[in-house]
This record gives sequence, C-alpha cells and structure tokens, in this order.
Amino acid sequence: MHSDNQTGTAAGQSIPIPYDIPTSARAYGWMLGGKDNYEVDRSFLLSTLPSFPECVDIARQNREFLFRVVRYLTREAGIRQFIDMGCGLPTDNNVHQVARSFAPDARVVYVDIDPIVLAHGRALLADDDSTTVITGDMRDQKAILDHPDLVRSSTSTSRSPCSSSPWGTTSPTPTDRPASCGPPSSGPRPAASSASRRSSRTIPYGVPP
Ligand SMILES: C[S@@+](CC[C@H](N)C(=O)[O-])C[C@H]1O[C@@H](n2cnc3c(N)ncnc32)[C@H](O)[C@@H]1O
Repeated sequence: MHSDNQTGTAAGQSIPIPYDIPTSARAYGWMLGGKDNYEVDRSFLLSTLPSFPECVDIARQNREFLFRVVRYLTREAGIRQFIDMGCGLPTDNNVHQVARSFAPDARVVYVDIDPIVLAHGRALLADDDSTTVITGDMRDQKAILDHPDLVRSSTSTSRSPCSSSPWGTTSPTPTDRPASCGPPSSGPRPAASSASRRSSRTIPYGVPP
C-alpha cells in the first residue's frame, strides 16, 4: 500500500480503513520495514521515537523471538497447528513460513482485529490451503474458535495440540475488556494449547477433555 490513498479500501476489497488515526498493525509493520502504512502511522512513530527510541529494536527482537518459539514448537515439541492472535500485517518470517520450514504439514490460522490484515493476508495467501486469516478480537476466544473459517481449517476441532500465541499484543489491546488467553467455557477448542507473550508469560491452557 504505502500510499496515502484515502479511498478506504485495501487489496481491492471494500473494508473500512481508518486513515485519520494510526493503527498498531500498520505502525508496527512500518517499524519492521513494511510498506503498508499511511502518513498518519509514520508521523505517529516519528513523534514517538525521540522518547522511545528502542521501540524499533523491540519490534525486531519480537520477530526474532517469534522465530525461535515457532522453531522450538515445531522441531522440539511436535506442534503442527498454530493460531497467531494479533498477527499484524504480513512481514518476513511469518508463522506459517517459519513453521513450514521445519514442518511442511503445519497449519496456521492468523487472527487480527484490524480488517486490513485480512485483506492483505488473503491476497498473500490466496493459494495456500493450510493457512487461514480471520478478523477477530482475541478477547473473545470463543468467537474466534467458533469462526467458520477456523472451524473449516480444522484447527479448532482436531485433537492434536495447538499453539495459540498473542505475540506483541499486550500493549495495543484496549483494556475496556480484560484480555482472555484462556479457553472458552464451551464449544470447540484446541486439544492442548500454549500462549506466549513476548513481554511476559507462557500461559498453558486447555487439555484434552
Ligand atoms: C504490535 S502488533 C504485533 C504483530 C505481531 N503479533 C508481531 O508480533 O509481529 C499488534 C497487533 O495486534 C492486533 N490487535 C490488537 N488488539 C487486538 C485484539 N483485541 N484482537 C486481535 N488483534 C489485536 C493489532 O491490530 C496489531 O496487528
């Protein structure tokens, strides 16, 4: 994108795109060298850098952390299903690319609250049957696990272990509703999952019923 086109569409799809306020998906993508951003995102970051210059290093180290975790989960732990919560805009070494480099049969569902991620993800993954992109709010785990596209991908119904990981999403998640990284109280869920947050914790959740 990397344009200041204000038509409110992306990747040929009619989805509402806020171009008058920065979004974390686009701003974060900019820090990783991405081109899918607007002037408002760049201005926001340029005004932030003087007081928080390490944010670019943190973003890049976060991606390196993601690489190491996915490598570990595929190579050492035998995980073949991933749900990437708050995945952001596609960049280098996305979860499906890292996972498949160690386990070609890995399946990935990307989830983000920003619809621009869906537009770009779909365009990028049009021919990829093992990777799904959905728009969802990770604070509503049940809605995500019930999402028809995720159910179709079988990531929610398979009894194989599934990693659910909200990398780098602690700070941009609004606090009006508490984030839930736990399992839904009912309905389909990963047979066993783990969630890792760059900044804090590993939250194991869900065991086979
Ligand atoms: C800082 S970026 C991190 C991107 C990616 N996870 C990474 O580590 O490279 C945060 C992403 O989380 C998304 N996000 C924030 N709150 C969310 C929520 N409640 N549900 C789903 N996605 C959310 C934003 O739209 C953004 O794409």
